[in-house]
This record gives sequence, C-alpha cells and structure tokens, in this order.
Amino acid sequence: MSDTGKTIVNSWNEWDPLRHVIVGRADDCHIPAEEPALDAKVPEDSDMRGQWGRRPQETIDRANELLNNFASQLEKRGIRVDRPTSIDHSVPVETPDFSTESQFGCMPPRDVLLTVGSEMLEATMSYRCRWFEYLNYRPLMQKYFEEDPKFRHESAPKPRLTDADYHPDYLSEKIGVEKRLKWTAEKFFVTTEEEPLFDAADVLRFGRDLVVQHGFTTNLKGIEWLRRHFPDHRVHAVNFPGDPYPIHIDATFTPLRPGLILNNPQRRLPDEQREMFQKNDWQIVDSAQPAHNAPPPLCYSSTWLSMNVLVLDPKTVCVEKSEVYQAEQMDKLGMEVVEVDLRDAYAFGGGLHCCTADVYREGVCEDYFP
Ligand code: NVA
Repeated sequence: MSDTGKTIVNSWNEWDPLRHVIVGRADDCHIPAEEPALDAKVPEDSDMRGQWGRRPQETIDRANELLNNFASQLEKRGIRVDRPTSIDHSVPVETPDFSTESQFGCMPPRDVLLTVGSEMLEATMSYRCRWFEYLNYRPLMQKYFEEDPKFRHESAPKPRLTDADYHPDYLSEKIGVEKRLKWTAEKFFVTTEEEPLFDAADVLRFGRDLVVQHGFTTNLKGIEWLRRHFPDHRVHAVNFPGDPYPIHIDATFTPLRPGLILNNPQRRLPDEQREMFQKNDWQIVDSAQPAHNAPPPLCYSSTWLSMNVLVLDPKTVCVEKSEVYQAEQMDKLGMEVVEVDLRDAYAFGGGLHCCTADVYREGVCEDYFP
C-alpha cells in the first residue's frame, strides 16, 4: 500500500472551494421495474409509469456527452474529476429477502455517497433496485483508501427491504396529489420505521451540523443512525410539507454560502424548523422559478432541478444553462454563474448537484450555529 501522506478526501459543507469531485456516468442506466418505494415516487401522470428496461442508447450517449463536457469544464477550472466504473445494471438484485428485475445505474453519485470530513459513507438506500449501486464506486473507494492514509471508507448497514419497509397505502395506482400532500404534511411517507433507511442526497452538510430530510427515502431510524454514526455532529431532521413526492433535499433546500440558503417556494421549511438558522442570522430566500413547465421525457425529477446547483466556492456556482431565472437570481445574490448544459441528462437521476459527489473541498469543520 502506498502511503503518500496526502489527504485526498475532505469535505465538510456544500460551498467551500471544490478541488476534487466525482461526476456520474450514464452508462448502462436502467429504468427499474416496479417496486414499492420507487412507484411511490414516480408522479401519477408521469410517462415513466409502467415502463422499465435499459434506457435507449441514444439517450445514454447524449447524457454521457453532457456529463463528459461537465467533467471537462470542471477540470479546466483545476478541479480533479473522477468517474465511476459501471457495473452491469441489467443483473437482477436478489437477496434472501427480495428480488427485483434490474438495477438503476451509476447516476447520480450524490444519492449514494455522503462525504463528511475524511469519510465517505455508502448510504443504505431505500429502493431495492439501488441495493448494489455502491459497487459502481468501489474502484474509486479502493483508490482513495490506497492514496489517503486518513480516508475512512464506511458503509451503512444494508437494509433488508422486505415489504415491512413500505406502507401499503402508497401502493395503490391513484392516490391523487391532494391526499399525497396531506400525508406528507403529516409525515406519513411510503417508508416505515422497520429499520434505518437513508439516501445520501437527503443530507446537507453545514460543518458541525447535518440537515437531513425526513421523507420517502430517509426515515427517522435512518436519521437516528446518522446521529449515532456522527457523534461529533448535530443532526437535524427537517421535512417539507409542500412536496407530494419528498425524496432528496437538493431540489428543495440549497445552501450557497455561510448565511444564505435557497428554499423551494412550494416546499417551505416549516417555521419551527427555521430557528437554528434565524438565531444565527442565516437568510433563507425563495428560489427563482424553474424555466420549464415540465421535466424532460422519462425523468423522475421535478422541474425544480433548476435549483439543484453545484457550488464551486462561496462566490461561484454552476447553474444549468437553460435555467435562466435561477442564473439571474444567482447573479443578484452576488454569485458568478458558470453555465452548464445538462438538461438532456436530467432523466438519469438529477441535476448538477445530484450528478456529482464531493471528494475534496478546502476548509475545516466549522460551527455555523453556535
Ligand atoms: N425531490 C426532488 C428530487 C430532485 C433531486 C425533485 O424535485 O424531483
């Protein structure tokens, strides 16, 4: 084992200067077959309902072209970029507890990998089709382990994902948005409290504080697991009642720099959960409207990928090229905007924040909410 003494992995928040990042690949991405947690997330009027199988090759090629261009754009700015190694996602997932016909893909890395300081933690995940997704990143984890003597490679306990993990109420074809909003406001989500579940993209890092969305993909036991796993952190559960399909926090709540967060105006953070921000003079401002009325074809995400931005440093942010209102707002907030063409890759699991995972940002663990 080489011991260069070099720190490869270090990232404590969402905004310190980015030096090293993973960018996903669209290779071999699949639309997974029906399964409880996934079905609850796919909007009832979506073109994705009832379809599954390998994504059309031309869409994979186009998404890869955009992801490769994004990687080059970052490299030109001096940021080291690593890419996952795709496994065969057509292989069914089979465990003693469940089986599902295919997997998902090696997009988006942000869902799977949570970097906290010198640690990269593989999330439990909560979709059966994503059970083995961490394997796409194992070659990188091995590399970091060899290069960085302080790197901590961790994996959260694999969940069993039996039917006991999902509320059957969510499994009916037509629930309707009104009932969904009522349920999510009551914090009645598709996942039960059978065992700890979380996706890494439900977590935002604010130095000593981790803010975690309680929703479809992360349950309270998952948040409690994170609390016990990171004993030196304060872990805060948040929820956003205006979201009928609450998965992943990064099209809902977007910190841009110390003291400033964008919040999706349709998914407002409840007043009682604002206290820690208000007490420390953080501003939570409504994000700009998306530029589009609908997501692109075969896309799981909402139009609010507009606010799924990648902060390069507290003054510089990558915004998707067509999201003109979001770019204008960033400009007004004093951020330099780097335009990135990514919309044709949205269907593969999200925007600029989703399709990346932090490896190294300059800086140390600070307490922003003393
Ligand atoms: N809940 C999100 C996921 C995007 C990262 C959405 O708006 O679709």
